[in-house]
Amino acid sequence: MAVGFYYKGSELMVDGVSMRSIAEKHGTPIYVYSGGLIVQNYRRIADQFPGMDVMVAYSVKSNSSLAILKLLKDQGASFDIVSGGELQRVLKVGAKGDRIIFAGVGKSKDEMRAALKAGVKEFNLESEAEARRLNEVAKEMRTIAPVAIRVNPDVDAKTHKYISTGKAENKFGVSMKRAIALGNEIRTSLTNLKLQCLHTHIGSQILDSTIHPRLVKKMVDFTETFIRETGAAITSLDFGGGFGIAYQKRQKPLDLKPFAKAVAPELKRLGLSLRLEPGRSILGPCGALVTEVQYIKRGDKKTFVIFDASMTELIRPTLYEAYHEILPVTKRRGKAEVVDFVGPVCESTDFIAKDRKAVLPAQGDLLSIMDAGAYGFVMASNYNTRPRPAEVLVKDGKAKLVRKQDTFDDIVKNESF
Ligand code: LLP
Repeated sequence: MAVGFYYKGSELMVDGVSMRSIAEKHGTPIYVYSGGLIVQNYRRIADQFPGMDVMVAYSVKSNSSLAILKLLKDQGASFDIVSGGELQRVLKVGAKGDRIIFAGVGKSKDEMRAALKAGVKEFNLESEAEARRLNEVAKEMRTIAPVAIRVNPDVDAKTHKYISTGKAENKFGVSMKRAIALGNEIRTSLTNLKLQCLHTHIGSQILDSTIHPRLVKKMVDFTETFIRETGAAITSLDFGGGFGIAYQKRQKPLDLKPFAKAVAPELKRLGLSLRLEPGRSILGPCGALVTEVQYIKRGDKKTFVIFDASMTELIRPTLYEAYHEILPVTKRRGKAEVVDFVGPVCESTDFIAKDRKAVLPAQGDLLSIMDAGAYGFVMASNYNTRPRPAEVLVKDGKAKLVRKQDTFDDIVKNESF
């Protein structure tokens, strides 16, 4: 059976199921995921490093739907989490502590306690202050916290400035110089920490395949210096995620081969294992947001196609001027014209695409906003008291509703007056 999104005649399909049948059964706007493609994308990364000891920790922030976490767990994935909430999610689907890496610049004491209790594999430390706090918490709990230091290598990921994280001006990690000082502080005085890994993540949606090999060189050279100067027993290197996908036809997803080729001999030489934290490259292409056209509005200067989906379901175009392909669920003939695809939210920034050339749909048509599997639903909000949408996962040719749309009562349940 074909996996992913494709046309059968004029109908858009997902893993053998028609998208129209899903939208008609469960309503719109609705997120639809291809389980077949999720498995394929995970495997493609996990199998890219043969003969290496590699831990693929799926970045939960990109899509934390329980059904998707369970699917990936069953494939043998580990998890990269950034909050106590994400910790609870992965534990809920049965992940073991030693399959969990805890990142994030602002871990609270409660989150640290919960993660220590769960026996996480590693805390990725982002600052000296965090290291000291974790040491205290571990001491109180009479335990040792396994840690990595997140190093900010000052490498430009050449991606959108809002999703770039490895430059000196970003809030993430510590500089190489300060990492060495922190390594020495851990050895001499933070005795409830066990330093075992160096971590880096320089940004998201990286498409230039020369960047990771350069990062490998920089991190490997640094690791040798680090071990020499701190005496730390480093056993792994974590290169984070960031592998880009093709949102536009003219783009190509990041080719992982140059990275694999660069990293394999170096880690072998140093006797280190590899950790990765991919999110978008696994989930991005596996999700679509299906929407129904509410109105066509001919303005004086522009034509607007008004969706029932908006920035509250998919904020990426608003936040990063991100491009998402928009496909008809049922192809229709007609002349292409330039239109704005917008939502019903009361903001000028509420758009899915601007100045897009497309065959003008009609009121009631279903359209599919593609590559919305990562940073889609997870960034949805209830702004304008809009319910967050339902989610359907298609697995083995069967569509299953894995999250109902919010009800009004869900939205107001913690309020009083
Ligand atoms: N590891 C760390 C430490 C991260 O901060 C991130 C993403 C990842 C791994 C996963 O990166 P990925 O493989 O998904 O590129 N909301 C933005 C993306 C924010 C990325 C945040 N960190 C967007 O919609 O483009």
